[in-house]
Amino acid sequence: MKKLQDKPSPPDMPNYRVEDTTEFLSTVAHELRTPLASLKGSIALILAGAAGDTRDEITDLLTIAHNNADRLIRLVDDMLDVAKARLGTLTLHLQPISVADCVRRALDSMNGCARQRDVTLKLDVGGDVPVVTADPDRVEQVAINLIANAIKFSPSGSTVAISVEHRKDDVQVAVTDSGPGIPKEDLAHVFDRFYQGRNARECQSGSGLGLAISKAILDGHGGSISARNNRGAGATFVFALPLFAHHGVHIADGTK
Ligand SMILES: Nc1ncnc2c1ncn2[C@@H]1O[C@H](COP(=O)(O)OP(=O)(O)O)[C@@H](O)[C@H]1O
Ligand SMILES: [Mg+2]
Repeated sequence: MKKLQDKPSPPDMPNYRVEDTTEFLSTVAHELRTPLASLKGSIALILAGAAGDTRDEITDLLTIAHNNADRLIRLVDDMLDVAKARLGTLTLHLQPISVADCVRRALDSMNGCARQRDVTLKLDVGGDVPVVTADPDRVEQVAINLIANAIKFSPSGSTVAISVEHRKDDVQVAVTDSGPGIPKEDLAHVFDRFYQGRNARECQSGSGLGLAISKAILDGHGGSISARNNRGAGATFVFALPLFAHHGVHIADGTK
């Protein structure tokens, strides 16, 4: 079990406010983003042949550099989202949306990754699903986080089942895999910041932020997210967006 926690300040250190540290983190992450994007863009250009032909060995090394720049950008984006959630400045661009469309977009962007690991993504949209008021990019982000986790823990040749359905007062999305499931002692902590369970040790990728951000996004929408183990094998993550919400975060048009 690996858990990186905020360390308490030593007694002889000045007492920094959580907000100061979070704002500092947010600024650093923001400043890192632009040079990282430029680095990734330049490598992509070389890989696309803009600087002429490159030897296979160089292409291989550049591909590794490109993938790692990409990973760093994702980490920086996650850090920015965590900081925003802590500072209460996570902004939602609310509008009437189709949750099924958001999930479809998430599926499209994860299909390549699933194929690489010989995992099939299956979507089941149950009947007429009403429109909800939500931020479509953030809903897609949550779906991507859950599908990425499901793929990461899925055995080769298996299927990840994703469903979208209308229940009485909300629209519910469930992502089910047939991986190892979540160890009992980790179940209560998987939505904590920087928490990576025992089972995540073998997969080096990830930062333990995806589920914490997903929870902050759902909280902001007045929705919910939960995890459970299936009776047979694997885990199911479920999130629900209310049809009539009380939103708890900044709304893009300035209303609260
Ligand atoms: N589908 C899943 N099956 C088993 N464990 C999971 C699954 N999804 C998440 N977890 C557990 O929850 C932890 C936190 O997930 P997350 O916040 O997405 O971080 P990361 O993916 O970077 O490890 C993971 O490290 C893992 O222990
Ligand atoms: Mg994750």
